Amino acid sequence: MLKELSYSESFAPEYSSLTRAAHLMLHSRLPERQVFGTPSQHAVLMGLRFDGCLGFIGGLIDADDASVEAGLAREIREEIGAELAPTKEHFLCAHVNLDSGIVLYFYTMSVPQELFCSIEKAAAAWHDHGHETLGCVRVPCYRLASNPMLGIVAFMRHNFVGNARQQLAAGLVRAEAFTAEEMRQILLDAEH
Ligand code: GTP
Ligand code: MN
Ligand code: MN
Ligand code: MN
Ligand code: MN
Ligand code: MN
Repeated sequence: MLKELSYSESFAPEYSSLTRAAHLMLHSRLPERQVFGTPSQHAVLMGLRFDGCLGFIGGLIDADDASVEAGLAREIREEIGAELAPTKEHFLCAHVNLDSGIVLYFYTMSVPQELFCSIEKAAAAWHDHGHETLGCVRVPCYRLASNPMLGIVAFMRHNFVGNARQQLAAGLVRAEAFTAEEMRQILLDAEH
């Protein structure tokens, strides 16, 4: 069972002994282009994990990380070799799973197109490529005009790790790839 927490609630004494993990949705706004006749201008990075699930970059916060953000920056460095500095401004949501004793933090960060594409292009050279990470994927940020069940709706039917599907949905709304109402419908359509 997941419960959403505000940033400050997540540091309350009752959660102080829990494990923490932080993940980041890296994205970029590209010049608008047509994908099979559908306009698209958002690029969002996810990874295919060793377990066959889609997930974001990031990971467990270690005891010697100075903060959740510092731990996230370290995980980003380890996983994609990029020096990014996530701050509280990039925080979007946190959820606690009391069954597994973990607090899951989620951040989103927009970067220039050149940086996004260079990170994406280097995916096969990522440290854990081929064992923990099986490559990066770009999330389709559109519903195909010719078949609105394809694109983001079909993508949402993949297997996601933890609550990464929910995180992606929230991240795409924050990035203004979809409105909250559009996303509500996308998630409903993906269930059928
Ligand atoms: P190593 O660095 O290889 O030791 O692993 P890690 O620290 O990178 O950990 P990982 O990214 O696998 O995430 C740690 C925990 O968060 C695990 O419980 C995962 O199931 C969960 N997790 C992994 N990716 C995501 C994600 O994108 N979203 C959410 N919500 N949880 C995730
Ligand atoms: Mn890691
Ligand atoms: Mn990780
Ligand atoms: Mn780790
Ligand atoms: Mn580790
Ligand atoms: Mn590892």
